[in-house]
Amino acid sequence: MKKVVVLTGAGISAESGIKTFRDSGGLWEEYRIEEVATPQAWGRDPYLVQEFYNQRRKQLLEAEPNAGHIALARLEEKYNVRIITQNVDDLHERGGSTRVLHLHGELKKARSTSDPDLIYEIDGWELKMGDTCEKGSQLRPHIVWFGEAVPNIIYAARLASEADIFIVVGTSMAVYPAAGLIDYVPQQVPKYLIDPNAANISWIRNLTVIAEKAGIGVPKLVEKLLAEA
Ligand code: OAD
Repeated sequence: MKKVVVLTGAGISAESGIKTFRDSGGLWEEYRIEEVATPQAWGRDPYLVQEFYNQRRKQLLEAEPNAGHIALARLEEKYNVRIITQNVDDLHERGGSTRVLHLHGELKKARSTSDPDLIYEIDGWELKMGDTCEKGSQLRPHIVWFGEAVPNIIYAARLASEADIFIVVGTSMAVYPAAGLIDYVPQQVPKYLIDPNAANISWIRNLTVIAEKAGIGVPKLVEKLLAEA
């Protein structure tokens, strides 16, 4: 089976009702990154940080996977599909994809502030100050904040380098190291970028830009790839 590696960003979940970050009306217009998504923010005002992620989690519980997530799961019928997502939602998993690598953490999980190996599923939407791990330390959202290391990037880079087909969906390619993953994909490998407002990466070899929303563009591309397999 050929290996299809897919890099996704907030745009794939937009049609599920989850706000992107940098589009007009996006989350980073409403909030400042430095106030809610950095270790310094957590040090300064953990209540505000918890509240920001609690609201995101609450919205996620009401969201459903869309045609883009579901189509990617169908691709597994004929391809070895590996999804690398910058998203902290679980819509790929709920859409049926079986191998999903989260680069920026997972909204539905909490992590101990004293032992990063202690990770827990959050029951419901609320994580509170005073919620602790089994060692008694405060739990924080299991999110990779700006300024923190991205531990899964090493696995993602290896996957990108092994791709037979590489697909990028719904990302502004503004945040590194995720945006640099496309440089690990061998030149001759066919690459597709699905985004209605695609970032300019025209210097990438063998790139086809599909300027459509994920809910339309992903099922179309998946049909084509399934027919070719
Ligand atoms: P951005 O908000 O930066 O970019 C969203 C992309 O999705 C843009 O290129 C849009 O054109 C596109 N888009 C919007 N609606 C779409 C749709 N219906 N179908 C397809 N594409 C659509 O989001 P990311 O690139 O994911 O990190 O942002 C990267 C990281 O920055 C996030 O993981 C997050 C953020 O700050 C952290 O919080 C650590």
